[in-house]
Amino acid sequence: MKFSLVLLFTSLFCTAHSQTKLPYQNEKLSIDLRVKDLLGRMTVEEKAGQLNQLNGGAFTGPALKDEAQKSKMKLVQEGKVGSLLNVIGTKETRAIQEYAMKSRLKIPLLFGLDVIHGYKTIFPIPLAEACSWNLDQIETNSSVAAKEAASAGIHWTFAPMCDISNDPRWGRVMEGAGEDPYLASVISAKRVKGFQGNLKGNENVMACVKHFAAYGAVEGGREYNTVDVSRFMLWNKYLPSYKAAVEAGAATVMNAFNVVEGVPASGNKYLVNDVLKKKWGFKGFLVSDWSSFNEMINHGYAKDSKDAALKAMQAGSMMDMESSASYKYLPELIKEGKLTLAQLDEAVGKILYYKFKLGLFEDPFYFCNARKEIQNLFTDEHRNIARQAAVQSIVMLKNNESILPVKNDAKIALIGHYAESKEDMFDFWVAQGKTDEAVSILEGFEQRFNGNVTYAKGYMPDNTTTETLINEAIQNCYNADIIFVNIGISGKMAGEDRALAQPEISQGQIELLKTLRKLGKPIVALVSSGRPLVLTEADKYVDAILQIWILGTEAGNAVADVVSGDQSPTGKTVMSFPYAVGQIPVYYNHFNTNRPAPSDPGGDWYSRYRDIPNDPLYPFGYGLTYTQFGYSDLRLSKSTMTKSDTLTVKVTLSNQSERPGEEIVQLYIRDHVASLIRPVKELKAFQRVKMAPADVQDVTFKISAKDLSFYDVNGNLVLEPGKFSIFVGGNSRDVTEAVFELK
Ligand code: NOJ
Repeated sequence: MKFSLVLLFTSLFCTAHSQTKLPYQNEKLSIDLRVKDLLGRMTVEEKAGQLNQLNGGAFTGPALKDEAQKSKMKLVQEGKVGSLLNVIGTKETRAIQEYAMKSRLKIPLLFGLDVIHGYKTIFPIPLAEACSWNLDQIETNSSVAAKEAASAGIHWTFAPMCDISNDPRWGRVMEGAGEDPYLASVISAKRVKGFQGNLKGNENVMACVKHFAAYGAVEGGREYNTVDVSRFMLWNKYLPSYKAAVEAGAATVMNAFNVVEGVPASGNKYLVNDVLKKKWGFKGFLVSDWSSFNEMINHGYAKDSKDAALKAMQAGSMMDMESSASYKYLPELIKEGKLTLAQLDEAVGKILYYKFKLGLFEDPFYFCNARKEIQNLFTDEHRNIARQAAVQSIVMLKNNESILPVKNDAKIALIGHYAESKEDMFDFWVAQGKTDEAVSILEGFEQRFNGNVTYAKGYMPDNTTTETLINEAIQNCYNADIIFVNIGISGKMAGEDRALAQPEISQGQIELLKTLRKLGKPIVALVSSGRPLVLTEADKYVDAILQIWILGTEAGNAVADVVSGDQSPTGKTVMSFPYAVGQIPVYYNHFNTNRPAPSDPGGDWYSRYRDIPNDPLYPFGYGLTYTQFGYSDLRLSKSTMTKSDTLTVKVTLSNQSERPGEEIVQLYIRDHVASLIRPVKELKAFQRVKMAPADVQDVTFKISAKDLSFYDVNGNLVLEPGKFSIFVGGNSRDVTEAVFELK
C-alpha cells in the first residue's frame, strides 16, 4: 500500500514536472527542434550574448576572486555571454556556470581553453608529436588530453592548429604538423578524432580547427604579420589540412588574425562563407581569434567596433572572442536593418546546437565532476602514454660511427643548463602542466644510468658562456667516455609571440662545443627547441645529434630510453632544418623554377645562392634509427594507367643490421607537366614497417587517380594526363624513382 502511494506520487510529480518543461528543455525532442524553440524565445540581446566569448582570467587570477572579472559575471547572469575561455578546474567552472543558471533562459556557458599538447600530463609539442608519423599514437595523445581537460570542466580546446609552416622563425610552428599538406591533413584529422571522439559523454572536448586560413604564411615568420598567398597556393598548400580536419567532424573553426587577399580572415566572405560553409559544408560554428573582429580596425578594414561586428557577421563569422563587438553592436545593427535576424539566428543556432549536443541543457555541470578531476588527471597510464609519445617524437639527425646507443656502463658527462633547468622545459601552452612534476633530462639520465652521470652547466640561461663555466664543463668530461651537450633554446621561446629572426644555436653554446671537441671524446648534441634551428655550425663539432624538441612531462625518461638503446629513435622530421637563416623558407615540396639547380653545382645563371647550398641541412622526412635500412627494386604494376585504375607500387626493404627496427617508408609523386605547376615532390603515402634483424620485406602502396590530382584556383580537383614519377625512400631526399604515364 505504502509502495503504491509512492509510485502514484512519483508519477504525478513527474508528469506535472514534464508538463512544465518547455520544448527546448525536453531531451526527447531532436536537437534541431530544441534549437528552434529556444531561438524563438530569445531576445536579440540574448542572441548577441551567445556570440560573446570573454576571457575568464585563469592567467590573471581565479576568475571569481578577481575584481576585474566581477562585471563579467554580471553579464553572464544577464545572458550576455555565451562562452568563457581560460577558466580552469571544476570548482571555477561550476561556480561560473551557476551564474549562467541565474539567467532568464538558463543557457549554459561553454568553457574553452588552449589544450595544445595535454592538460595536466604534458605531451610532446604538436610539431614533435608529428615527427612520430604515428597516427594512432597521435589520436591517443589527443584523447588523453581531452579526457583530462573534460574532467576539469573544459568543453572545448582551441586545437588542432592546421597551419602549414615553412618558416622556423615563426614561434607557432610548434603547434602544427609541419610543412607538408598531406601529412598535416592526416594528422589534423586524427587530432580532431582524438579530442572529440563522438562528443558523447564528458570525457571528450570539441576541437577547433585554426587558424583559418593560411596563418602559417606570415611574412618573415613574424607573429601577427601580413599574409599574401595566391588562390593557387591557398588551395594546393594551405587549405587541405583545414579541410581534412573539418571533414573529420571538427565542431568549430577559428578565424585567423591575418589577411588573405587583402581582407582580414574574420571578415573574409570568400574564406568563411564560400569555402568553409558552402564548398566544404561545414556545419559547426566559428570563433574569432583573440579580438580579431576588433583588430580589423588596425588592419584598416573596419572603421570602428560596430563596423567590425557588421563585417564579421556579413562574412559569416560567428562567436567573438574577447572583442565584445558583437554583443554590444549586433542588436543595433539588426534594428538598423544592416543585418537580418536570419543571419544572427544561423550563428546562434549553431552554438546552441553544440550546447545541446554536449548534454549541457540536461546538466550544465556535466563536466564539473570534482571526483573525476582528481581521478583522471596525471595518472600513471597517461604518463606512460606521454613517455611513449615522447620517445617517438625524438629525431636522430646524425649518429657517426654508431656512437649511439651508449654502451652499458659508459661514463657519461652531461653538460648544459637546459638539461637541468625545469623552468625552460615547457612552452607557454601547457594548461595545468607543471614543470616541477616533469622529468628533466638530468633526472632521466640519473635514473637510467645511475652513478654513471656527472653534470655541468656549460652556459648561462641567456645562452652566453664564461670561462669558468667552460672550465667546469671540461673538468666534468675528464673521466667520461662520452659527452652529451644539451644545446638549443628555452621552451619559453616556443609559441605565440615568440618569433625569432635568428633561430640559431647561440655563440655561447658554439664556443662550448668547440672547446669540448678538443678533448677528442665522442660528443652527442641533444637539441631542445620548439622549432628546427640552424644546426650547421654545431653539427661540425659533434658526432651525433638527437633533436629532442619540447617533449613534455616525460622528457628526461624518453631521452634516456633512446640514448640507452632501450628504445630506438624512429622519428622523421616534418619541417626541413635550414642550412642558414637566409635560406628560410626552405621546404622539400618547392617548385622546379625556370632555372633549377643542377646536381653538379658548376656553371652560372641558375636559381641558387652563391654562398650556401640550396638544400637544407636535414630534409623533410629525415631521421635515423639504430637500424640501417636498404631500399631496392622499386616496381610499378603498370607503366601506363587510366583515371579509373589503381597503380600498385612495390619496393623491397631490407634490415641490414642485427637489431630489430622500424622504418617510416615514404612515397612521393611528381606530376611533370600540368596546367598549374606542381612541386618537385609531394608526399602521398607512408607506412611504418617493423623489421626483424636481417629481415627483407616487400612494402606495397596503392596509388589511385585521386592521389595524382591537384586543385585549380576555384578549389576543384583536377586530374591531367601525362608523365608522373613515383619516389620511395626513407626521407624526401634519398629516394628511388620510377616513371609512369597517366592516360
Ligand atoms: C590567440 C591565438 O592565436 C590562438 O591560437 C589561441 O587559441 C587564442 N589566442 C586563445 O588563447
